[in-house]
Amino acid sequence: MIEGSLAELQANALARIEAARNPEELEAVRVEVLGRKGSLAAVSKDMGKIPAEERARIGKLLNSAKQTLETALAARQEEFAGQALGARLESEWLDLTLPAPGIRPGSLHPVTQIQEEIEDLFRSLGFTVLDGREVEDEYHNFDALNIPADHPARDMQDTFWLDGGNLLRTHTSPVQVRGMETLPLPLRMIAPGRVFRNESVDASHEHTFYQLEGMMIDRDISVANLIYFMKTLLTAVFRREVTVRLRPGFFPFVEPGFELDIQCLICGGPGCPVCKQSGWVELLPCGLINPRVLRMSGIDPDKWNGFAFGLGLTRLVMMRYAIDDIRHLMGGDLRFLRQF
Ligand code: PHE
Repeated sequence: MIEGSLAELQANALARIEAARNPEELEAVRVEVLGRKGSLAAVSKDMGKIPAEERARIGKLLNSAKQTLETALAARQEEFAGQALGARLESEWLDLTLPAPGIRPGSLHPVTQIQEEIEDLFRSLGFTVLDGREVEDEYHNFDALNIPADHPARDMQDTFWLDGGNLLRTHTSPVQVRGMETLPLPLRMIAPGRVFRNESVDASHEHTFYQLEGMMIDRDISVANLIYFMKTLLTAVFRREVTVRLRPGFFPFVEPGFELDIQCLICGGPGCPVCKQSGWVELLPCGLINPRVLRMSGIDPDKWNGFAFGLGLTRLVMMRYAIDDIRHLMGGDLRFLRQF
């Protein structure tokens, strides 16, 4: 009789263990069946009533039922634990290929880096760093630089005109004029900044780019002074001795005007694809300030003269790092810019 109810109890409990839907239900079954006041405990209490000759056998049955149920319970507990872990892994899943959250250390744009280097250099040579304006008037951008309204030089510097006759400056040269208007003589100044042109964008042209203007006015300035400062500048930028040459170049505000070339830093002279087999790379326009320009800004060209140069900062960065497309630099793609 007791055997039958024990078997039934075991089968019943096994079914409930199997059917438990969560750890709480499973625990309830455990307390009810295996607990101190559970049904198995009740059976063992009744062992006394069993005839002595039966007791050992029934005792064994009881133990085996207990073990079976404990094993089943443990297995089910493990199953629940596994499910819980799975759920946690699912919810706390980490994509290790994602960039780390939070603020990442930034870096200066390569144009800013080269600009700051050149500013430091020229400051050490006694030059003032001037900040011009990006919205200029026609007078400072053109007329005061000896580029009158009907001059073809204006065509090469087509720009964005604003209401009221102002324009986005096409070069940093208007800061020369503002420097002559405000600084005492003799003067040495540079003016880095953003300039704009109505260009169709391609690998080497942008409508927005950076230049660095330089000007020195003193007594008896000659082309030799110009060459000295340009060589000093380029040696610092390229971190090695550079060979330069001057070719005639036309800009209405300098006379004589030059294109300054450097000997190709890639091949050193014999010719290569970078210098288009010529051995030289055109780098910056410069010249002695046209006396007309001095006079328009109220400076007596019989007493004073000077030189001026215009450096393409964006161009210079491209040369320094051998970047073959200006759009990489101006496109604002951080994946590219983080390399510098
Ligand atoms: N402003 C001229 C340009 O952008 C460059 C230049 C500057 C030439 C200074 C001579 C002297 O084309």
